Amino acid sequence: MRRLRVGLAGLGRIGRIHAQNLARRCPSAELVAITDADAAAAARVGAELDVPVVPDLDALLSTVDAVVIATPTATHAALVAAAAAAGKAVFCEKPVSLERSATVDTLAAVEKAGVPFQVGFHRRFDPDWAAATARIRAGELGEVYLFRTSLRDMRSPDPSYLSSSGGFFLDVTIHDLDTARWMVGEIVEVSATGAALSDPRFAELGDIDTALVTLRFASGALGVIDNSRSAGYGYECSTEVVGSAATVRIENPPPRHYRWLTPGSDARGIPRDFQERYPDAYAAELEAFARSVLAGEPPLVGGADALAAYDLAVACDRSWRMGRSVRLAD
Ligand SMILES: NC(=O)c1ccc[n+]([C@@H]2O[C@H](COP(=O)([O-])OP(=O)(O)OC[C@H]3O[C@@H](n4cnc5c(N)ncnc54)[C@H](O)[C@@H]3O)[C@@H](O)[C@H]2O)c1
Repeated sequence: MRRLRVGLAGLGRIGRIHAQNLARRCPSAELVAITDADAAAAARVGAELDVPVVPDLDALLSTVDAVVIATPTATHAALVAAAAAAGKAVFCEKPVSLERSATVDTLAAVEKAGVPFQVGFHRRFDPDWAAATARIRAGELGEVYLFRTSLRDMRSPDPSYLSSSGGFFLDVTIHDLDTARWMVGEIVEVSATGAALSDPRFAELGDIDTALVTLRFASGALGVIDNSRSAGYGYECSTEVVGSAATVRIENPPPRHYRWLTPGSDARGIPRDFQERYPDAYAAELEAFARSVLAGEPPLVGGADALAAYDLAVACDRSWRMGRSVRLAD
């Protein structure tokens, strides 16, 4: 079986998950080289997975058919453009850029180069979300009335990450906004509110750690998103869509399927982070990327989806700052 020769740039929190999946869980991909600005970190992952380490993206591009970019968001645009100019298929973590103009220019460069492009909205590849969305699309839920989703981290990432994350809506809520568009349809209006509650550093950065967003879809349906960086008890990602014929509820499953019963208590585990919550989705998104590139078919979630989610996240940010709802045409 032919395998896509993939190189990976960025070996931090998400990059290490991608490295393990590409090396061990993606039958259509072969991880042929990795790189990271931190040479020691790259050497550790290279030794663990028995994958060659190269010094930079240029060296990576000379040996691969496709690249996975999992570096900090501010670096994505330049790396994607370089990979596209070299004729390589690109998988890029979300968001493509912190700036709209750079997002548009980068996606135009990809288009011009004619290379496949996939953005890292992994939830679209989770077996539960994919099955639920297929049934909604098939009409089994009837008319959609209400979309609800929660995305909460147990604790916030390092301050160094936060200062270059693009802010809460662009870094966190963007996943929910993409999920909402994908499951229900286009969003025409958002209303967001936020607060910095868990740590004074959020306020110092002009950022928040807790948010509520309401959505109005083009269909007339309504939606609500709740997000937290500091939920304390664990990582939670769950979604519900209420329709005229059925309701689908995607729970937050425990990482292990046993419960511990003691007098007056019934305890089960809770995922601690996105890695524990999505053991399959991160592998599935890269397997789907490799398969689509090998088959010459467009990836399932591409540049237009990346830009639409970016615009929604920025609209949420504006809504929070201005204290009023924002229509997407505004
Ligand atoms: N899809 C998801 O669920 C998900 C989860 C977490 C992060 N992300 C996204 O992934 C990206 C990385 O996030 P993270 O949490 O892994 O960050 P991180 O800070 O943990 O890791 C980033 C890594 O990139 C390396 N790096 C920096 N500049 C580089 C360059 N020019 N070339 C090569 N390596 C470079 C750093 O040394 C570091 O190892 C962000 O864009 C973030 O939005 C997505």
